[in-house]
Amino acid sequence: MNAPNDSTVLRVATASPYDVVVGHDVLDRLRGLLPEGVQRVAIITPESLEDLLEPFADLLEGLDVIVLQVPDGEEAKTWEVAAACWESLGEEGFTRSDAVVTLGGGATTDLGGFVAATWLRGVAVVHVPTTVLAMVDAAVGGKTGINTPAGKNLVGSFHEPAGVLCDLALLATLPRAEVVAGLGEVVKCGFIADPRILELVETTEPAELTADSPVLRELVERAIQVKADVVAGDLKETGGVDGHPGREVLNYGHTLAHAVEKATDYAIRHGEAVALGCVYVAELAARAGGLSPELVARHRAVFGRVGLPTSLPTSLLGGEGVDFDTLLATMRVDKKARGNQLRFVVLEDLARPVVLAGPSEADLRAAYAALSGLAGS
Ligand SMILES: NC(=O)c1ccc[n+]([C@@H]2O[C@H](COP(=O)([O-])OP(=O)(O)OC[C@H]3O[C@@H](n4cnc5c(N)ncnc54)[C@H](O)[C@@H]3O)[C@@H](O)[C@H]2O)c1
Ligand SMILES: [Zn+2]
Repeated sequence: MNAPNDSTVLRVATASPYDVVVGHDVLDRLRGLLPEGVQRVAIITPESLEDLLEPFADLLEGLDVIVLQVPDGEEAKTWEVAAACWESLGEEGFTRSDAVVTLGGGATTDLGGFVAATWLRGVAVVHVPTTVLAMVDAAVGGKTGINTPAGKNLVGSFHEPAGVLCDLALLATLPRAEVVAGLGEVVKCGFIADPRILELVETTEPAELTADSPVLRELVERAIQVKADVVAGDLKETGGVDGHPGREVLNYGHTLAHAVEKATDYAIRHGEAVALGCVYVAELAARAGGLSPELVARHRAVFGRVGLPTSLPTSLLGGEGVDFDTLLATMRVDKKARGNQLRFVVLEDLARPVVLAGPSEADLRAAYAALSGLAGS
């Protein structure tokens, strides 16, 4: 699957298919991902990543380029920032034949995708993600959105990109903790669909998973492929077929993860919470569905190996611990719950995900005790 300049092109075969180009030093592929006839490009990017902007003047030579600088990270995902972007596009007379390019982490691709989805009811967007999480998750799949005071990602739209460009060289400046957090989603993909991901992690020195690592590149490619396969089959979360959970499978570990994020006031990184959530559902599946103890142990081993938390010591939570009743109450209002019944994606076996609906409270509590290292006590 390698193209001549050593990039990998993964096709996301949705109704309007698009390419995800992955490689090292592949920014020169940007031009080819823009729709034909584009005259103007608005680059949406955080102020903090100004240094990464430098090559774009040359890359987009001949086009009219405007740069819309937005706040860093989650601060960008507000309607005020979206409105400021709309205003700039209005001032520039941005038309349907122009395009948005996002350059940043998942917060930037979510905001920029949302601006592109809503301006003139949708203009083309090409994502250039700069975090592992954005490469393997946020930039692929067409979900865009902003936050409201009532919660995260409550306003948004499905708007598939025209293309996604994952240049691993952009990760060189990404703090290690962010790389590790992104690997949480990668490992999740290993358990739900591609066990080769787990083998690669198990046989590679974690410290070697740096921006220039061919193994990190393979892990990113494999995780993107998992997401691409899922969204191509089920873009709008209508559900899967033949017992497969459909797009909901990507939510493996996320029900508890979201509750932990909320309980810690988002002090914990998403990928860290996902690792905890995946260990939790493995423990739950061991009780409610008979998942083997070896596979539960493998969850702890692989997430732990890349540096992610796999149990819930009170120190992780500011010395306070998190009361399970609080988490349970949050999980019950999670948007993934239907009616009053809790739903979890669990594994029957490696890469065999199914939906577990309405597990018993005893199993829910026992799995939490196991996650907290209190099993059997
Ligand atoms: N749309 C989706 O399907 C989807 C999926 C998963 C996550 N998300 C969203 O993605 C967001 C999280 O994404 P994230 O983890 O990338 O967070 P982020 O965008 O907040 O980036 C994390 C931090 O890293 C910095 N950063 C980014 N790239 C850098 C680089 N190359 N060098 C140095 N610093 C860099 C950012 O400035 C920020 O401070 C959340 O808002 C989440 O809701 C969306
Ligand atoms: Zn996630």
